[in-house]
Amino acid sequence: MTDSTAEANETFGDLGKILVIIPTYNEIENIPLITARVRAAVPEAHILIADDNSPDGTGQVADGLAAEDPNLQVLHRKGKEGLGAAYLAGFRWGIDRGYDVLCEMDADGSHQPEQLPRLLTALRDADLALGSRWVPGGKVVNWPKTREFISRGGSLYSRVMLRMPLRDITGGYRAFRKQTLLGLGMSDVASQGYCFQVDLAWRAVRAGFRVVEVPITFVERELGASKMSRNILVEALFRVTGWGISSRLGRIPDPVPDREA
Ligand code: GDD
Ligand code: MN
Repeated sequence: MTDSTAEANETFGDLGKILVIIPTYNEIENIPLITARVRAAVPEAHILIADDNSPDGTGQVADGLAAEDPNLQVLHRKGKEGLGAAYLAGFRWGIDRGYDVLCEMDADGSHQPEQLPRLLTALRDADLALGSRWVPGGKVVNWPKTREFISRGGSLYSRVMLRMPLRDITGGYRAFRKQTLLGLGMSDVASQGYCFQVDLAWRAVRAGFRVVEVPITFVERELGASKMSRNILVEALFRVTGWGISSRLGRIPDPVPDREA
């Protein structure tokens, strides 16, 4: 099920140059579909595929798409280093090339490109817009109950440990202003897996940025497989617990802004 009602014939030129970063690891069937949907939903957005040398040939398919589309590029990384590392490399790539808005989107269709205009609209009055499954109007479709439990539990645990008011802290459908990324201290982010999302949201809140949640409908993938693993969960649990304890002891330093170039 997809949200085919394009939400806007609206344009977002007022926000500046927009880059949608799509991290991939073995998404060969999904990558042509998702890029075509982004193109149709927000034609002015450029696309960066950040591929970790996927064994299934996603990188080569992406190169083929890039050959046809001057506004689609591929960042080839040497191997699987996690979602966090792929996004950090993508953010730096985009900031170095003059993009003003950098968006995160999964390759598998869970984050519907047709809802990107909602995030961009919200960003007009915010520094970071989070696509949220757990605010009124937000939904998940076709997710197993166990996965929903883990996700809701992870958000609740993070909210309590980090004393943050956000409802969906682990979600990966986001739009950042460049200034937000530069201000939250990207250069000392160590999170590799999905707790990268918690890390960035918490840094943005601590740095005093305006963070808003926008309801989205998250649709579980139909093609390929999730990369969620026990290691990713364990990393998240350890890091969030450590951050919570350190912050109560006053041992979390303020984010140190990065320089632009
Ligand atoms: N380059 C790269 N390297 N990409 C990766 C890696 C990696 O190590 N691991 C995952 N990805 C890509 C996938 O190919 C996909 O495009 C996206 O990251 C999300 O991965 P999934 O495996 O589909 O995630 P999920 O559906 O289990 O998890 C969703 O929920 C998480 C928790 O709420 C995603 O929306 C996550 O972003 C979110 O944190
Ligand atoms: Mn997924």
